[in-house]
Amino acid sequence: MRFTTQYPILISISTALLGSCAQILSGPEERPQPGHVLADQQEPLMNIPIPGFGGKGSSTDAGDVIISDVIGKDRGINIFAGFTRDISAISKRLNDDTQNTTVLAPLNSEIQKLPRKPWEDPEDYDSLGPSAYEGSDGEDRAHKNLRRFVEAHIMPASPWKEGEKVKSLRGEEVWWEHKEGTRRVQPGNIEVSSVADKVSNGEVWMLKGVMNYA
Ligand SMILES: *[C@@H]1O[C@H](CO)[C@@H](O)[C@H](O)[C@H]1NC(C)=O
Repeated sequence: MRFTTQYPILISISTALLGSCAQILSGPEERPQPGHVLADQQEPLMNIPIPGFGGKGSSTDAGDVIISDVIGKDRGINIFAGFTRDISAISKRLNDDTQNTTVLAPLNSEIQKLPRKPWEDPEDYDSLGPSAYEGSDGEDRAHKNLRRFVEAHIMPASPWKEGEKVKSLRGEEVWWEHKEGTRRVQPGNIEVSSVADKVSNGEVWMLKGVMNYA
């Protein structure tokens, strides 16, 4: 009698041990990046990559790596990755293994050189003046604008074929083509510097520019 009641305990202990082994083993596989610690701290604990899984997006197991696992680890786009976590509908989507997404992630340098912040709208300044983003109303306004910016970079399709027109979550038709030796996202002729990640629920592309978000 006693033994039977002990089994479930043993099982749960070994599951816990396997879990922590997975955590330790997954360490060396990650690219060493100085910006890592910060990104890791914001990652949900559930999304520990399974060791021995091999390549990205090559399996259909329940333990597949998904976009929310990887997007914060690409140091060149961690500003945009932070934005996606701030918008709950988007972070939910990137964390959902039943919905595929192509994320068009502008490089940090592109966001930094924008003439206005992604959450600023000249119309808000026109109608409300320099304090447009102060107070809780201001915060709501900034959040709404940031959401619009992020949605313009989220394509609800993957795989996404060349020339295929897809509406971004913002509602604008977007497609891409090979041009001048690179992938270009249209409209705007924005160069894709690389495909940063291919995982089970989509891809993360790095953009040398931002999509129109007006
Ligand atoms: C989602 O992406 C995976 C991996 O690329 C692919 O195998 C699957 O067919 C896609 N599903 C849809 C509905 O596009």
